Amino acid sequence: MQSNTFSSFLNGQKFITLKSISSTNDYLKEELSKSAPFSEGTVIMAEEQFGGRGQSGNKWLSESGKNLTFSILLKPSFLNPIQQFNINIVICVAIYEALYPLLGEELAIKWPNDIYVGDRKLGGILIENILQGNEWRESVVGIGINVNQEDFSGLKNACSIKELLHREYILTDLLYDLCKSIEKCYFQLKNQGIADLQLVYKKALYGLNEVRKFNLEGVSVEGKIIDVADDGQLIVDFNGHSARFNFKEIEFVF
Ligand code: BTN
Repeated sequence: MQSNTFSSFLNGQKFITLKSISSTNDYLKEELSKSAPFSEGTVIMAEEQFGGRGQSGNKWLSESGKNLTFSILLKPSFLNPIQQFNINIVICVAIYEALYPLLGEELAIKWPNDIYVGDRKLGGILIENILQGNEWRESVVGIGINVNQEDFSGLKNACSIKELLHREYILTDLLYDLCKSIEKCYFQLKNQGIADLQLVYKKALYGLNEVRKFNLEGVSVEGKIIDVADDGQLIVDFNGHSARFNFKEIEFVF
């Protein structure tokens, strides 16, 4: 029963493409608030977003028709709300594994959930969880991957697959690969737990065990990322003293 339920995930249920929308995350959340009967794995893809959102209230800018901007509905009710970072790991690892055959060794996961190639950002993830009391009802997983865009004026460290590999990619083919990989990793979380996924996440982590410059409340300091805690906090070593950070409390200095 479990595997039957799962075999239909991302495979045969709603896949909606919208020409132009403010944000696929907002669309999905609005529909859910109106009790739209969306099943787990529903994918909303937009050709154009005019109000695309990134983390921490940032905008997500993406040239119309050139990139992947989509949201997937997950219903991780098998997790406790304190395990929210597990979904973050699943999505990062799934994207990493789907893109690795194309992009190879330079591909990395930048904590907490950016997709990097070398020192440049290829994609980002915005996960919005809908909790009800102590129960985790839904996750709206928004993913933006730069695919065929070539002009990033104004975005200092962004890059696209086309810029890196000098060829155009079919967006729906890539979307299919990404969804398959998300399905696989989500299934792995459900059946085997987080341990192996966590290992891949850490192995792919940008800057792990390297002495790098960080910005800590406006002060530039040198430190070394040594781990990511189960709750998602970044653990950084400063000359033998380790400290833990939440998102936005610490930033790489490029
Ligand atoms: C980030 O790196 O700050 C996260 C970016 C997430 C962008 C995606 S594009 C599809 C979905 N809809 C949104 O408005 N944002 C996410």
